[in-house]
Amino acid sequence: MKAHIVTLPGDGVGPEVTAAAVAVLNAVAKHGGHEFRFEEHAIGGTAIDAFGEPLPAASLDACKRADAVLLGAVGGPKWSDPNAKVRPEQGLLALRAALGVYANLRPLQVHPSLANLSPLKNDKLKNVDVLFVRELTGGTYFGAKTRTEDTATDECKYTVHEIERVVRRAFDLARGRKKHLTSVDKANVLETSRLWRSTVQRIAPDYADVTVEHQLVDSMAMLLLTQPSHYDVVVTENLFGDILTDEAAAIAGSLGLLPSASLGDGRNGLYEPIHGSAPDIAGKGIANPTGAILSAAMLLRYSLHLDAEATAIEAAVNQVLRDGPHTRDIGGDAGTDAVRNAVLRALEHHVKTSNASFADASA
Ligand code: NAD
Ligand code: IPM
Ligand code: MN
Repeated sequence: MKAHIVTLPGDGVGPEVTAAAVAVLNAVAKHGGHEFRFEEHAIGGTAIDAFGEPLPAASLDACKRADAVLLGAVGGPKWSDPNAKVRPEQGLLALRAALGVYANLRPLQVHPSLANLSPLKNDKLKNVDVLFVRELTGGTYFGAKTRTEDTATDECKYTVHEIERVVRRAFDLARGRKKHLTSVDKANVLETSRLWRSTVQRIAPDYADVTVEHQLVDSMAMLLLTQPSHYDVVVTENLFGDILTDEAAAIAGSLGLLPSASLGDGRNGLYEPIHGSAPDIAGKGIANPTGAILSAAMLLRYSLHLDAEATAIEAAVNQVLRDGPHTRDIGGDAGTDAVRNAVLRALEHHVKTSNASFADASA
């Protein structure tokens, strides 16, 4: 298959982990006889420095034309002045909005060999397999903002349409899994949450085979720690999803592990690890590339429908998480490139020992 992939390495560790993910995609292309054409563009702080804006038109145009977009991270101390008019994060938000990628999928699994890194006791970690579906293009992130000398507001607004499309996506995903959906809101206080909850309740009969549970977000933050294996698909609004998924990453052992896929109604998607630019370790070659590499696997699955290839990458990553080498955040002393190379070797081994080639498997 031929595919046009735009890469947006961004800031801090973004370029380091994106390079690892691209190396893995190139290996997949080689083994599977695919032609992936990569086109790199600027976003975030580096785009502000070079072009004066966090999402230059050339970057956005390329992303709109692409089959899929692979992003590293944006932001960093250099651009974090609270009084700055232009911020790296604005580029990322504008991109998500422009691509219409309203459903952000963030899977959480706990690898057995990393269980000891989790702040939770081991017995709580068995069978943890949660798919967070975070609404990504609405809510507080995109509401009107005001600011005077001594007052600031961020409007949180949701329409039924915005809620319904992401909730239906979550129901559809639950159908392919354990058929259990948890909707998280703050319906005891927020009007937007009451609209959210009544929309979920109205839609639920269309998915009678899926059991639905409602949780308030404060309680959910606690339940995620006390009974993480209870959850299957968790759907929630933009800001709650942002916070709960960093908590989820801590359960897995490191923020560097979790990938994400941001999907709209078309084929194009935006794929990025859930972590940020990690300024404290940027430039040292020690960032964990796992979240980025697993995001590349999600890209293959959701935008290119190359399921066998995605599964092969996940198997290779799992093997490296089991056998090492490991980066520092997960208790090892290996660098980003050593982990990337180990994943490439495991992938190669997987291809050689599996009966069918990628091309056959995905036919
Ligand atoms: P962060 O995710 O960058 O870092 C938090 C902690 O996790 C740090 O200690 C960091 O070293 C560690 N970490 C993160 N990724 C890692 C990796 N791959 N390997 C090993 N350790 C890793 O969060 P922050 O420090 O709060 O934010 C820094 C900047 O990143 C901010 O400007 C923020 O806006 C931005 N950010 C961007 C994205 C994105 O582009 N999608 C996501 C989150 C934060
Ligand atoms: C994430 C990040 C972003 C968000 C920031 C950088 C705008 O934290 O992708 O989780 O809050 O969505
Ligand atoms: Mn976040």
